[in-house]
Amino acid sequence: MDQVLWPDLSGKRVLLAVTGGIAAYKAAHLCRLLVRAGALVRVAMTDAAAQFVTPLTFAALSDNPVSTDLFDPQQESQIGHIDLADSSDLLMVAPATANTLAKLARGIADDLVSTTYLAFSGPVLLAPAMNVRMWNHPATRENLEVLLQREHHSTVGPGDGEMACGHVGAGRMAEPEEILQAAGGCLAPEDLLGRRILVSAGGTREALDPVRYLGNRSSGKMGFALAAEAASRGARVTLVSGPSALATPLGVARVDVRAAAEMAAAVKDRAAEQDAVIMAAAVADYRPADAAPTKIKKETTGDTLTVELERTEDILAALGRMDPRPRLVGFAAETTDDLDAVARAKMARKGCDLLVANDVRADDAGFGTETNHVVIYGEDGGAEALEVMPKRAVAARILERLAELL
Ligand code: CTP
Repeated sequence: MDQVLWPDLSGKRVLLAVTGGIAAYKAAHLCRLLVRAGALVRVAMTDAAAQFVTPLTFAALSDNPVSTDLFDPQQESQIGHIDLADSSDLLMVAPATANTLAKLARGIADDLVSTTYLAFSGPVLLAPAMNVRMWNHPATRENLEVLLQREHHSTVGPGDGEMACGHVGAGRMAEPEEILQAAGGCLAPEDLLGRRILVSAGGTREALDPVRYLGNRSSGKMGFALAAEAASRGARVTLVSGPSALATPLGVARVDVRAAAEMAAAVKDRAAEQDAVIMAAAVADYRPADAAPTKIKKETTGDTLTVELERTEDILAALGRMDPRPRLVGFAAETTDDLDAVARAKMARKGCDLLVANDVRADDAGFGTETNHVVIYGEDGGAEALEVMPKRAVAARILERLAELL
């Protein structure tokens, strides 16, 4: 999964509870991802889980001792289930077996994981994994219903597919990347709860003929990071994306487009129902006036080829003229030494509430990079220059500013 979709879990204390299913092997990768996303990870395992993957694996991956036994005198003196519960911001149970779900639902506390659960009062994320018949059994359904009625309890997955037992259907644990994104949602501020936000991302492609196009270097990373972060903060997000290899962020509705005209239609059709539109896309300003209906052949063009270009519609400016209009966030990718003046002029011209400007000549900012280095201009005329940071962290700062306006 692309790093721009990783939530920023810096400093968050995550307790990963691993219970006894074959999907425990995937929890090892999850542990690694959590650490890479910045989380401080502690792992608690049931005896059954330790049959599938050794505690040593998780100790090495989390760089912390692993807790396995409720009655281990050494572990109890140093860690203990109360300590584990007290020193965690999020409890994730991955995989959560049918047996563990039953215990958690009924308050049975007969091992370290179920006892720690009872002692924990923060958000709980469950990643169920089991055979399809066990998943569909009324007992499991009831237990899950009971759990989801509790405050700050959520599930991720299970997915459909072929399982280790050979059966096909629902019950396969969600992929670690998806669980990581869900964890981000559990820990993010809920300052966009229920807000409708449309984000455009990526570059557009303007056809020259059926096989060639004019495009730009946008990767879509900034827009995808914004969509992922907005969804984590509780927004209902629509992502209108130009061609991009990036995975769709969890919980985001994606609309794929190619040309600027398609992007304009997709954004404008949905704009009236949005609380905010964020135009992170690098939309072509010009397109070939007459795309050739068949492939342009060298024999017919000679040594030079002249293509007439015509202006495309400025989507952001069109949204700026709507009345009433959603809150608007624009971007300005520039290659000028006078970023400040250009950004302010662009903001006034397009009529947006926030404008995010960057100098795309820098190595640590702009097209295709994992980080960005931006200045956020507000409607009050203020300019907030951010440090170089991962695009996901830039997204968080932009959305904090947007949340203040909604
Ligand atoms: N934008 C848009 N529609 C276009 C072109 C740009 O909505 N046809 C949006 C972009 O998504 C971005 C903002 O306008 O949020 C600024 O885009 P940019 O290309 O930097 O600005 P332009 O108005 O095209 O100005 P110029 O190319 O002259 O710098």
